[in-house]
Amino acid sequence: MTTGVLALIILAAILIQLAVLILLGLYRRRRQYRDLDLQINKAEKTSRSNTLTLPSTESVKSGYSWEGFKEFMVQRRELEDKNNAVSSFYLAPVDGKPLPAFKPGQFLTFKLKIKDPDSQQLKPVVRCYSLSDAPHPDYYRVSIKRITAPDNSAGIPPGLSSSFFHDQVQVGSRLLVKAPSGHFHLIDDEALPVVLIGGGIGITPMLSILNTILETGINREIWLYYGISNGNEHIMKQHLKNLVSTYPNFHLTVCYSAPNENDILGVDFQHKGWVDIQLLRATLKLMRYQFYVCGPRPMMESLVPALQDWGVDSHDIYYESFGPASLKQAEKKASKTHSQPITVTFSRSGKSILWNPAIDSLLDFAEANDIDVESGCRAGSCGSCQTEVKAGEVTYNQQPDADIAPGHCLLCISTPKNNLTLDA
Ligand SMILES: Cc1cc2nc3c(=O)[nH]c(=O)nc-3n(C[C@H](O)[C@H](O)[C@H](O)COP(=O)(O)OP(=O)(O)OC[C@H]3O[C@@H](n4cnc5c(N)ncnc54)[C@H](O)[C@@H]3O)c2cc1C
Ligand code: FES
Repeated sequence: MTTGVLALIILAAILIQLAVLILLGLYRRRRQYRDLDLQINKAEKTSRSNTLTLPSTESVKSGYSWEGFKEFMVQRRELEDKNNAVSSFYLAPVDGKPLPAFKPGQFLTFKLKIKDPDSQQLKPVVRCYSLSDAPHPDYYRVSIKRITAPDNSAGIPPGLSSSFFHDQVQVGSRLLVKAPSGHFHLIDDEALPVVLIGGGIGITPMLSILNTILETGINREIWLYYGISNGNEHIMKQHLKNLVSTYPNFHLTVCYSAPNENDILGVDFQHKGWVDIQLLRATLKLMRYQFYVCGPRPMMESLVPALQDWGVDSHDIYYESFGPASLKQAEKKASKTHSQPITVTFSRSGKSILWNPAIDSLLDFAEANDIDVESGCRAGSCGSCQTEVKAGEVTYNQQPDADIAPGHCLLCISTPKNNLTLDA
């Protein structure tokens, strides 16, 4: 055996040893996390008195809640950022009755009448906006970002509803609003520390959760990670600063991915870069948390799986997307392939069409085939696209937020499981 071969064998042995050590380290860390998880679970069961008490879904739905849409008046309007792109709207019910509480993280659904830029006719537009403050009996608050047309948009219009809010909704305007709903909200049956992660306008449900926990005065630790490009996009800056100096259980990390020259690290923001798993690992202590995530698609697609890879139990991760199904999961992709061709029949339109597995949802499929169906949020939240299933089954791409009547489905977040007949 030559010296060269011997050196290679020794090198290979060292590399194998190193790999084994790294794997062992990772395994131990996962075990540590699980053990801690169990300990905390045990400890929590004996200290339930610390649990935050919030209205149950039942109490939100009963009492003085309402069915369908109710009229609200805009009481106050406030610009929240230097870009003047985010406005908060404070809404009071026209009937003057006290408002039902909601679970922080839930949203309101609005039915607007907006002039169609093409036909110049008024058309109904349904959109959802998260409640951005703690529950109060006399007002709800939503904070809305203006969606401008993309650069070099070649005729693509700006966002319909957000432009309407920014340009036409003023103090005194009346709006039709559905009662708060949504399955993304603070879970209050365990007094776990909470990690809130908001990217861009995805900060709104986090503000509601944060304000609620702090206003109740319960000593539950909260870490908020807020990711934006720079100081021009920073909303509720002074409010967040005030909370940091008032509440020792609130820990804030504002991340600017592209700070301006006048944005000062340590003053205006705490971290240069994105909110990513490296940042969470470097700043969070090793313990069990509830994670709440809402942000743009790239953030959600990278962060949620990264949390799971880190060892966080999926039951401790809650996330919401503001647009069409932003989180593509492996099983979701797998569900798209079918062994047999599938036919979708739209009974009222008298059309039977072969399903195209490349299409994301039954709503896109219906629209592509000129079937007239209603839609709003395109994210399973508002319920506008709810349609009766006369035969067959659907698969959901994500958990529906809207309540679905028996025998119905939400077209915007589902695909056919087998041959399907829809009442459309
Ligand atoms: C549960 C939930 C909570 C939400 N909470 C909030 C919140 O708190 N704050 C908030 O600001 N938003 C929130 N949203 C998002 C909000 O509901 C709207 O989706 C958002 O305001 C955009 O609506 P829009 O009518 O302005 O834009 P749309 O008119 O729906 O347009 C959306 C995008 O499509 C582009 N577009 C329009 N027409 C075309 C076309 N023909 N071809 C190609 N592109 C086109 C537009 O330029 C725009 O970029 C939430 C959404 C959900 C589902
Ligand atoms: S369009 Fe809102 S639930 Fe489908």
